[in-house]
Amino acid sequence: MSSTSIDSLLHEKRRFAPDPDFAANAVAGTELYERAADDRLAFWAEQARDLVHWHRPFTETLDWSKAPVARWFGDGELNVAYNCLDRHVLAGHGDRVAIHWEGEPGDTRSLTYAELTVEVKRAANLLASLGVGQGDRVAIYLPVIPEAVIAMLAVARLGAVHSVVFGGFAAESLRARIDDAGAKLVITADGAYRKGKVLPLKPAVDAALAAGETTVEKVLVVRRGENEIDWTAGRDLWWHDEIAPMSDEHDARGFEAENPLFILYTSGTTGKPKGILHTSGGYLTQVAFTHKNVFDLKPESDVYWCTADVGWITGHSYVVYGPLANGATQLLYEGTPDTPHPGRWWELIEKYKVSIFYTAPTAIRSFMKLGREIPQKFDLSSLRLLGSVGEPINPEAWVWYREIIGGGTAPIVDTWWQTETGAIMISALPGITTTKPGAAQVPLPGISVDVLDEEGAHVGKEAGGLLVLTEPWPSMLRGIWGDEQRYKDTYWSKFANTYFAGDGAHLDEDGDVWLLGRVDDVMNISGHRLSTMEIESALVSHELTAEAAVVGAHDDTTGQAVVAFVILKGRLAGTVTPQEASDLLRAHVAEQIGAIARPRQVFVVEELPKTRSGKIMRRLLQDVAEGREVGDTTTLTDTSVIRIISDTMK
Ligand code: PRX
Repeated sequence: MSSTSIDSLLHEKRRFAPDPDFAANAVAGTELYERAADDRLAFWAEQARDLVHWHRPFTETLDWSKAPVARWFGDGELNVAYNCLDRHVLAGHGDRVAIHWEGEPGDTRSLTYAELTVEVKRAANLLASLGVGQGDRVAIYLPVIPEAVIAMLAVARLGAVHSVVFGGFAAESLRARIDDAGAKLVITADGAYRKGKVLPLKPAVDAALAAGETTVEKVLVVRRGENEIDWTAGRDLWWHDEIAPMSDEHDARGFEAENPLFILYTSGTTGKPKGILHTSGGYLTQVAFTHKNVFDLKPESDVYWCTADVGWITGHSYVVYGPLANGATQLLYEGTPDTPHPGRWWELIEKYKVSIFYTAPTAIRSFMKLGREIPQKFDLSSLRLLGSVGEPINPEAWVWYREIIGGGTAPIVDTWWQTETGAIMISALPGITTTKPGAAQVPLPGISVDVLDEEGAHVGKEAGGLLVLTEPWPSMLRGIWGDEQRYKDTYWSKFANTYFAGDGAHLDEDGDVWLLGRVDDVMNISGHRLSTMEIESALVSHELTAEAAVVGAHDDTTGQAVVAFVILKGRLAGTVTPQEASDLLRAHVAEQIGAIARPRQVFVVEELPKTRSGKIMRRLLQDVAEGREVGDTTTLTDTSVIRIISDTMK
């Protein structure tokens, strides 16, 4: 985040008290805070009993003796899919719509809880017939179609582990994730609709699996794009052919609370993406608790819509597990916000009478740019609560969201959390909290947050520092897949017995938390984390590049944008113009990692600013990329480098 946007956050003094009518009917009450403050563990145990069905009740709440690996509700047993499906049907809600799905071209499909349960049972039988059992890893590389949810729940139902890979990632990234998890099955689609065209997916799976020996035995292919694809006999199977003969009877057995549920990869500061591991009982408890209370969910009447792709943590926790555990009715939309017209999202809100809407600041800012006339053409009066996630929301976007989308009345919940935390950690509670535009504000009941200085001391009010979580929480990650040491080093080594989140934060005069962005070399592009290091590796894997440095520079729409500085190999430098080199390298990164990582700009430079010990000074490059006066250069070996780079950019 640039210093100017931090300034505007910290000078924000507008306050929005809860509407009394909303407060009178709110799901969450202040007694949640009181109970959690009184006895945090008893509070979580109550939530776990209240919100989750246990095949075998737990007696033990938290075992922290093997810290930093937690065991929550360790002697209990549950089936996560049963909790999201069968129990709602058994409770008489089988006819309630679980998912209203809308494809980008406008095709639709609605599934009630009874229908979704049947689909998942058949899919579970299919996966079991392919040899998937407890603990096996299944990679899911699908667009946002009902089969994505069905596949995730079918894997969960068998006690197996899913690793969903966002459909925007390229073959190389997919392969790295398949290998790291040792997946035996991949579930994909022929193609997906994106911006009016069919984006092929299966060819990326083919390319990924062609690269040497693999653990993958079978590839299940959902027909969606109807694009032509290659077929590997014996390995590839059509989903619709295979599922047709499957029985719709499937008994969900209980698995222990700590049975792994999924791995989801996220970027770190160094090295390959980290496979964040989540388990069952604690995760389900906290996603259900937060989904219910933060979004004020009334499952009988609300229509909930979270715009995230299922390939990100927000899609896991607040499209799949939270809403379905709570028996919510939700909208699932395959496409982009602006296809076939820029009012597509608002049209969907009007059509489905969406009442709870959860999206990211980057989307809100791009709508602001298009102008209020577009949303104002639609009836958005069904909306009664708005959520934001992914990055700090600038106060102007917050106020626009409230006024133009929320009709000036809908409360906004700005929810801070991470892939690692599994569920929302810091957020206003609607009907209780007086909200402040731009601040996530208060830790949820049962969550312990602090802001520390570099030495580990509490910073006090009206001061900034590093955000930490001081007590274990039910949906916390249980580790990094296959790399326990990296788990300890990344999150638990900076401060003793304290989880280091990697975010800067400020406490205001009330002690409320204002998030200020990452403090490490991780960028936040449109609410998605990307590491500078991964993109630098992609750049240097191109034959033109000798050296590369990447920074996240402020961008009005996407929050941050990728800006790269590259030195070309001497013998090749004369063979291309800087513009050609930039075009080639931008395309190369998109091909290696995925379009989200494509640099906004690639600057060809003669040298990079380095410290005497040889470390690239990204901070200076960030100053340059953001057009700021360059900060402290005292440790720089050669100060003329910066001037030369700045000149190149003019
Ligand atoms: O920097 C914080 C930012 O997103 C990071 C987590 O990214 P990821 O694991 O991809 O999960 C995104 C969705 C939960 C955090 O370390 N972040 C997320 N939400 C907020 C936020 N920053 C400020 N305010 C938020 N509400």
